[in-house]
Amino acid sequence: MEKSGSRWALCDREMTMIPSKVNFSEKFSKLPDEDYSVRIVAKMNDYEFKLVKFKGEFVWHSHPDTDETFIILDGRMMMHFKDKLVEIKSGEMIVIPKGMEHKPTSEEGYKALLIEPEGVANTGDVKSEMTIKKIEWI
Ligand code: NI
Repeated sequence: MEKSGSRWALCDREMTMIPSKVNFSEKFSKLPDEDYSVRIVAKMNDYEFKLVKFKGEFVWHSHPDTDETFIILDGRMMMHFKDKLVEIKSGEMIVIPKGMEHKPTSEEGYKALLIEPEGVANTGDVKSEMTIKKIEWI
């Protein structure tokens, strides 16, 4: 009986928390007009979905505790690894393994959806002028 009680409670909660959809174009229009900007747009369990706009050269870094996923929505990214260079275009994605050194660059710029656990530092194990202390929601 207790179980069915808690199930009803869950239903109640879901009824009052109908999720709103995320429109990427609309969210990107709210990003600051800078070469690098990143904002959180959604969360699933402990994972955050971030929209990233980037042009230029990022810093070499790695994420010691987690993999990191980039889904390119627009433009082109060059992902540098120590012994390889991978081009990722709109409609493509890449999963960076935990602990692997990487550096994104882009001459023309790209827009991407980044998926990683909550609280992951954008520059991983490296502190630089590109490190963002707390990434905001939009
Ligand atoms: Ni990274």
